[in-house]
Amino acid sequence: MHTTVGIIGGGPAGLLLARLLHLAGVDSVVLESRSRTYVEERQRAGILEQATVDALRAAGAGARMDREGLVHDGIELRFDGRSHRVDFPALAGGRSVMVYAQTEVVKDLVALQLAEGGPLLFEAEVHRVEGAETDRPTLHYTHEGRAQTLSCDYVVGCDGFHGVARDAVPEGLRQTYERTYPYSWLGILADAPPCYDELIYAHSERGFALASMRSPTVSRLYLQVPNGADAADWPDERIWDELDLRLGRPMNRGPVTAKSVLPMRSSVTEPMRHGRVLLAGDAAHIVPPTGAKGLNLAAADVVVLARAFTRLRETGSTELLDGYSDTCLRRVWRAEHFSYFMTTTLHTDPGQSAFETRLQESQLDRISRSRHAAAELAENYVGLPI
Ligand code: APR
Ligand code: PHB
Repeated sequence: MHTTVGIIGGGPAGLLLARLLHLAGVDSVVLESRSRTYVEERQRAGILEQATVDALRAAGAGARMDREGLVHDGIELRFDGRSHRVDFPALAGGRSVMVYAQTEVVKDLVALQLAEGGPLLFEAEVHRVEGAETDRPTLHYTHEGRAQTLSCDYVVGCDGFHGVARDAVPEGLRQTYERTYPYSWLGILADAPPCYDELIYAHSERGFALASMRSPTVSRLYLQVPNGADAADWPDERIWDELDLRLGRPMNRGPVTAKSVLPMRSSVTEPMRHGRVLLAGDAAHIVPPTGAKGLNLAAADVVVLARAFTRLRETGSTELLDGYSDTCLRRVWRAEHFSYFMTTTLHTDPGQSAFETRLQESQLDRISRSRHAAAELAENYVGLPI
């Protein structure tokens, strides 16, 4: 079998890329190692930047998002016993964000691809990418118990942080920049109306907490917990009590339908291309979830890539493909900085001194008093145009 673009991974990056390529008349095959149900149910983030919303609409995948998504014009910061609202449109040129879960984005893109697009194979695990430096890179994969190969003009690794595509860049040519954090998140989904109509990011002496949502009846809530924490040590009542204390207001309690601990890490692999293998999304970079950049970076990468493949098809020019890594890394590092800033400003490091806590409070106070400081946060939160 041969295709123009072989895509490893059917997460948001791989699915949106396949859809954009289909609309541009470029054929592709998506190989996803997990089942459709697993991919559609995996709980991840839920905040779409304006540019991601625009990309999904342009992909023809915006109808349900526009019906069910919630436009958010700001967030609330809570610190030192008080609250401050950051108004996005007023501070960031009229832009805002949309609350629409990654699970729903993935369901919409899977349905479109299966109905109209090229092959999307589930339970098709890629073991190896061969020939990155040739003009016919090949994917070796297993599907329905049989070893198969797919020859491609180009390969795009959208296979997430634990994927195989990164290994196609020889170790001597790739550099990974990484940071881990001395805390994790305990995340729950609850059948309970959100306690407030915007997201609340709380800095407190008990640690960070975030009140988010999935819909007017479903809350998504997070607590900073120590690394290695076990969700089993957090019965529902303990979680609700801790959320009330850290967020400084009573939550609407309801049945908890999911509970898990998420590690926090920053990582960037450069360059995002070697020969005819390109990396996109979590395969190339991850951010800690504070600031909700992961899904948006993945979407931005593949919008840039789809433009580059369209240019190649229409004019034969590889100029945009050649610039792909540099173009994306500029945005990636901005988001890395912002996610690091939000994380380290809002969490309590277990080894943190009282001096460092006062610095965090001073930074949050500055955001509440300076339009410039608040605009810096707002512009980063709503994201740059792609
Ligand atoms: N062969 C085929 N598929 C693979 C392989 C492989 N060897 N390895 C991984 N995959 C699949 C995974 O099963 C997963 O469905 O690649 C997909 C990668 O998807 P994501 O991890 O969701 O990554 P991405 O599409 O880049 O989306 C980034 O996801 O983790 C969040 O915070 C992140 O929200 C951001 C978004
Ligand atoms: C979420 O709703 O899952 C979410 C929202 C904002 C974040 C991180 C996660 O910063």
